[in-house]
Amino acid sequence: MILHDKFGRQITDLRISITDRCNFRCVYCRSADPENYRDHDEILSWPELDRLARIFLSLGIRKVRITGGEPLVREGVEEYIARLHALGVEDLSMTTNGHLLAERCERLIKSGLRRINISLDSLDRAKFEKITRTKSFATVMGGIDAAQNSRLAPAKINAVLVRGINDDEVEAFAGFARERGVIMRFIEFMPLDADRQWNRGLVVPAAEIHGRIHARWPLLQIPHERSETARKYRFADGAPGEIGLIAPVTQPFCGHCSRIRLTADGKLRTCLFSKEDHDLRALLREGASDEDMVTYIRSVVMEKEEGHRINAPDFVPPSRTMVFIGG
Ligand code: 5AD
Ligand code: SF4
Repeated sequence: MILHDKFGRQITDLRISITDRCNFRCVYCRSADPENYRDHDEILSWPELDRLARIFLSLGIRKVRITGGEPLVREGVEEYIARLHALGVEDLSMTTNGHLLAERCERLIKSGLRRINISLDSLDRAKFEKITRTKSFATVMGGIDAAQNSRLAPAKINAVLVRGINDDEVEAFAGFARERGVIMRFIEFMPLDADRQWNRGLVVPAAEIHGRIHARWPLLQIPHERSETARKYRFADGAPGEIGLIAPVTQPFCGHCSRIRLTADGKLRTCLFSKEDHDLRALLREGASDEDMVTYIRSVVMEKEEGHRINAPDFVPPSRTMVFIGG
């Protein structure tokens, strides 16, 4: 069985947020003041997450990304990954801020994790600490080292560029990719920040990033899957490392989207920018059968939005920001 929507897109990727909690407060995501975390019983339990994973796999989900909040702050994540691995998830990855990675890398790999995305928004300690509102620069760099020295290499390193904050670091990040052999991915800032500071002027277009890197180190495009979010490049001079450009704002890729999301509190979201989400937790807790769940999920996915409409004149950001959706 394959999930698909009314535009004929096949849905094969699921992002599962396992916690709304985070030990960072990145400016493009959270407010300086901690929000109220969801109560424990509002968050899906591991058995609930197991059951949903089985159901989604039976519906043709092949690719699972574990996100948060920060997934490594929830105890039991390694065991969950091991169970997903045993269920036969073909492509299993995790997005982390890297703070707890050095100490957990081994356990994650033993559980079956093979790919990792680590956020790194500045190579300058002071700026990193300003963006993440932490003192964790050295710890995160240690996490990246641990990943690079393990079978998780090459790590994907994600940077969200915000004009006037870290847009001067494009070349430095590209140099980091070359030196360290990582996949350096630049993600355009999306209107999902808790503080609602987003405006078009803060977005650093992928075309600009490409132009700047290409001028310094010529790039060659690498073919990509249709549903992939990143346009991928390698260095023409044969240096290690790779560049990925993710341009949801200036070059939307919704037409080939294969993704849905499960929030930590058990809501199914068919788009980051969905106006509403769909309460799987309620169904689970009301005792719905697998068949009921499958029927409901199919009907929700069928109505997946055509696109995010960030560029539409009447665009309104979703009421749930990244904090409550999960990267
Ligand atoms: N715009 C773009 N990406 C974001 N992320 C979080 N908030 C935003 C935003 N407003 C992404 C970052 C981070 C991951 C957890 O979520 O890539 O690395
Ligand atoms: Fe935490 Fe990731 Fe949001 Fe930063 S972007 S505050 S690391 S969830």
